[in-house]
Amino acid sequence: MLEKIKESATFIKSKVSIEPEVGIILGTGLGGLVHSIENQEVIDYRDIPSFPLSTVEGHSGRLIFGTLGGKKVVAMQGRFHYYEGYDMQQVTFPVRVMKFLNVKYLFVSNASGGMNPAFAVGDLMIITDHINLLPNPLIGKNLDELGPRFPDMSEPYSKPLAALCESVAGKLGVKVQKGCYVGVTGPTFETPKEYGYFRRIGADAVGMSTVPEVIVARHMSIPVFAMSIITDLGGEDIAMTVSHEEVQREGAKAEKKMTQIMTGMLQELPAQLS
Ligand code: HPA
Repeated sequence: MLEKIKESATFIKSKVSIEPEVGIILGTGLGGLVHSIENQEVIDYRDIPSFPLSTVEGHSGRLIFGTLGGKKVVAMQGRFHYYEGYDMQQVTFPVRVMKFLNVKYLFVSNASGGMNPAFAVGDLMIITDHINLLPNPLIGKNLDELGPRFPDMSEPYSKPLAALCESVAGKLGVKVQKGCYVGVTGPTFETPKEYGYFRRIGADAVGMSTVPEVIVARHMSIPVFAMSIITDLGGEDIAMTVSHEEVQREGAKAEKKMTQIMTGMLQELPAQLS
């Protein structure tokens, strides 16, 4: 495993001149952030040795290096979901590679279904905590070179980065919600009772990604910022059907706000968090 990670990272370093400080994972409908990245150097996943290949509709599978908000970034266009049939090692492999590319921060975006009654479709939510209902990606032999066997999870999402987001969003006049994201396998959306259950156990939004990548980033002590677009609402009394198309459409509508916030955060990001 470690050899494969190193092999991918060595190949990437031989192909691109940019040394990224921030890794970004672009979720459903958020691919447009890519157009704001300047001085791009692009590598297809299929050209990187040991890298998994992306299949799902709406994801093209490329690493995009460049500058965003004055910071050097590497963005994953196309992420790997457990429901596609990848194992957890594959789902989280790119984050392991990012560590070997020396990224100091990980920014993640996704789409999710809101259960908090105060939420509306199109809201942006800073993820402040998660509940993991997917298999844990750290199951198996621990890679001691990368992190501890039993990693602490008391601050999965960086509080300083969340505070920076609130400050940037305030200046931009964009409303942001905060809440807990429950990560599930999918690919079914939830039944009304499941949305109700997730609400009762303390989650504000539910989605099929992010948590594995965040666990692996935290295993390697990378500070994480994650933001979710609420693309639909679910609950026992909410009669709303959900479709992939609708998730994509609402994701695309919120893309501009999300891009502005992420870019503003990058502009103000310190070299190292205190
Ligand atoms: N449930 C699970 N995943 C999702 C949802 C949802 O309602 N919306 C977007 N991703």
